[in-house]
Amino acid sequence: MENISFEKRDNIAVLKISRPKFLNALNSNTLLELDSIIEDVKRDKDIYVLVITGEGNKAFVAGADIKEMSNMSVFEAREFSILGNSVFRKIEKLEIPTIAAVNGYALGGGCELSLCCDIRIASENAKFGQPEVTLGITPGFGGTQRLARIVGTSRAKELIYTGRMIDAKEAEKIGLVNKVVTQENLMDEVMDLANSISKNAPIAVRMCKVAINRGIEVDIETGIQYETELFSHCFLTEDQRDAMAAFLDKRKVDKFKN
Ligand code: HXC
Repeated sequence: MENISFEKRDNIAVLKISRPKFLNALNSNTLLELDSIIEDVKRDKDIYVLVITGEGNKAFVAGADIKEMSNMSVFEAREFSILGNSVFRKIEKLEIPTIAAVNGYALGGGCELSLCCDIRIASENAKFGQPEVTLGITPGFGGTQRLARIVGTSRAKELIYTGRMIDAKEAEKIGLVNKVVTQENLMDEVMDLANSISKNAPIAVRMCKVAINRGIEVDIETGIQYETELFSHCFLTEDQRDAMAAFLDKRKVDKFKN
């Protein structure tokens, strides 16, 4: 891979967008690499949590690559948006939890990449924004849809219409990030969070994500039905039997299976 590094530590995978000269801007090649890694992650049953971050201490991802976009035809722009949206939707639909470790600028496509993760942890120097209208375009990797769902339509509209950047504190205040930490502690905090998730029964954690993700896209009756199906599905697992037996025996489960 030219623009992405990927490593696994125990059951946690860390994916790093790595084009630091361009503040990790997403060009087509990087999106294709991202797509290929996400396909691998989908198949790898030993990965319980995926962390996404950016190389260096200045940017998570400063957006889609403006140089590449500057000369696109309508057709090429459409294909570019379709490619990014397809990859980001795959990330959103991964059954394992995903955490964005936002270590600097998360602008345009970079903010959109963080939005398709389940949890966003930001360093104090992080800046978020959807500055597309300052470039004569709309967000194109899901920003109009996911930002509104996460922070509410009114706040999303203000941010998208003005294109203004907000700092990590403001992002936390409006519910865009879960937690703000110092830059030096960012990866430790994120790995602690990932570890605490990966210690739990992995199938149950996945079922929770599927229930929440599907549930917010449908009416509550249908969502509750999904939950019942997924809940009862857990009773097919060894983890359910072992964990409940361990509770009754007043001991801890050694290790959950997959
Ligand atoms: C291409 C980029 C880039 C980007 C930064 N660079 N962002 N290249 N695409 N999105 C490059 C710069 O051109 C520069 O290259 C190098 O990275 C360092 O950036 P500087 O601007 O010199 O750094 P600084 O002055 O510190 O400013 C940081 C910044 C600024 C505020 C983040 O770079 C910036 O405003 N970037 C663009 C942010 C943006 O508008 N993003 C949204 C893009 S639209 P050189 O070669 O000059 O050193 C988008 C649409 C998504 O994301 C949907 C598409 C379908």
